[in-house]
Amino acid sequence: MAQANMGLIGVGTMGSALALNIAENGYDVGLWNLDLSAVDNLIASAGDLAPRLVKCESVQGLVETMPTPRAIILLVPAGAPVDLTIDELIPLLSAGDTIIDGGNSDFRDTISRTKRLEAEGLAYLGVGVSGGSEGARHGPSIMAGGTVATYASIAPILEAISAQYFGDPCVAHLGPDGAGHFVKTVHNGIEYADMQMIAEVYGLLRDGAGLAASEIAPVFRSWNCGALESYLIEVTAEVLAAKDPVTGEEMVDMIVDQAGQKGTGRWTVIEAIRMGQTASIIEAAVGARVLSSEKATREIAAPLLVPAGIDMMIPISKHDLQSALIVGRVLAYAQGFRILDAASEEFDWSLDFARIAEIWRAGCIIRSTILDDIAAAFRTELPQGRLILSEHFIKVLTENIAGLRRVVSAAALRGLPVPALAAALSWFDTIRQARGTTDLTQAQRDYFGAHSFHRIDEGGSHHGPWHGPKGA
Ligand code: 6PG
Repeated sequence: MAQANMGLIGVGTMGSALALNIAENGYDVGLWNLDLSAVDNLIASAGDLAPRLVKCESVQGLVETMPTPRAIILLVPAGAPVDLTIDELIPLLSAGDTIIDGGNSDFRDTISRTKRLEAEGLAYLGVGVSGGSEGARHGPSIMAGGTVATYASIAPILEAISAQYFGDPCVAHLGPDGAGHFVKTVHNGIEYADMQMIAEVYGLLRDGAGLAASEIAPVFRSWNCGALESYLIEVTAEVLAAKDPVTGEEMVDMIVDQAGQKGTGRWTVIEAIRMGQTASIIEAAVGARVLSSEKATREIAAPLLVPAGIDMMIPISKHDLQSALIVGRVLAYAQGFRILDAASEEFDWSLDFARIAEIWRAGCIIRSTILDDIAAAFRTELPQGRLILSEHFIKVLTENIAGLRRVVSAAALRGLPVPALAAALSWFDTIRQARGTTDLTQAQRDYFGAHSFHRIDEGGSHHGPWHGPKGA
């Protein structure tokens, strides 16, 4: 029987691309999929790589095609399909074999699956893989969680297939069990935020400045040569320039404005809130997708709810829009890394933020030039600190914040929604306020619930005069 160096279960878009990538790097891959025709199609289209792809008729066949210790990658939909596949594999595997979950799994599931497999003498690696199908084929960014020994046994393959940033493989062992999937979840949260802010700027140029998609495309293309250089800005320019092959119209104009989501953005917000953190920009992005699906309500509301008055409209410059995106992006990363910091503490992961920024510099969806500066900031001056306090980012924010202010103000006056950019501005203005307004919140809590408060001039807990002098 043909032998494989490793196995892969789930030959969908990502699985097919990753299988070809692994094969191209010199490994023979055993393949199994619920619908085996996907395996046939992949092998038929694999050209020179076909001899390295081994079709297996069953999960048992896949297991038997590999020598021990085995390594099997799962690229099946997150949730129940992962558990069902694990259920099927467990009785077939031997001690020392490793299952690698390369999907967008909830890190809490990864933690419990790791426990389950370790109890069976098996190893488990929860691996976040970013870069879409192109990344999976030619080099994704890979965020791994598991034991040091398990990672070490798989590292040569992961390093071979990952994206390279000037020779540095974009893969790292980030911590135990769920650490890799958690970091991938936050990556996706930042991805949601960045995409939403880009969409808001597109909306201002379309509905505020009245530009056609093909006129907006060059604006994004020009921004991709400066501080905003990134995969998502590049993709935006290409998408906006595309024509619909059927009608000849702008492609983006033919697409229904209802965005889907598979959960990782929402999980980022849920986990942030669970840990007492704010992910306001990411939350605004998740909320924007939620509202986008209320299409029927929006269509009824459009003629009924009063629009902004024409007299209130002020122009918005492209330079300000660029600044708004720069600030928004920095702050979305700042929130993301703050969440990672909180999780690192809560789960005792000792996450290396500089390394996380480094492995996001190539291969993944949020790759951008800013990540080099983030990595440098964490390496040099902020080992566990706050991104917004780095000398470099204070300068970036100072140079660009006025642009974000003008954009959010102009958007509000024009009645154009910019929830993520507005959340970014509010977060910025809150975090730079040495004295905020929760003195009043504390007073209210004490008034109606006798919760007590701290005084600015005296230690201990106190009550206000509404409970009598000195809280008597
Ligand atoms: C990536 C992407 C990819 C996908 C997510 C989010 O890093 O390659 O994040 O994993 O975009 O599944 O998808 P949704 O937008 O459908 O939630």
